[in-house]
Amino acid sequence: MTLFDLACRARTHAYAPYSGFRVGAALRSAGGQIFCGCNIENAAYPEGICAEAGAIAAMIAAGEREIVELLVLADSPDPVPPCGGCRQKIAEFAAPDVKITMATLSGETRVMRLADLLPAAFGRSVMDRG
Ligand code: THU
Repeated sequence: MTLFDLACRARTHAYAPYSGFRVGAALRSAGGQIFCGCNIENAAYPEGICAEAGAIAAMIAAGEREIVELLVLADSPDPVPPCGGCRQKIAEFAAPDVKITMATLSGETRVMRLADLLPAAFGRSVMDRG
């Protein structure tokens, strides 16, 4: 199954009663495994979790630490871009050249490098004091 198919399947499990906007994500780790996530909303709105965050949590819980490919999809008119917070979360575990595929449910896709989605990123090197 492709990342697209797996993200699609995860999306069907999304819990999004407040926005009605269901999102699915799938990532491939350096170890070759695929991890999926869907958005999980909450009546206390800020407690909601994005699909990408769910996929990353599954990867970390399985003992993997590196994303080599990630896809996010939603039933949006244009390929859905990851939110700013998710870009930062992805950047913690992905190299700048990693390709992020944004997709619509109908299969339209747009691919961007992480570094282009999150330029001038804050990362661990910013905290280096030499
Ligand atoms: N959402 C994601 O799951 N990922 C993103 O990158 C963008 C937004 C979710 C959060 C919320 O449940 C819904 O989409 C509407 O913002």
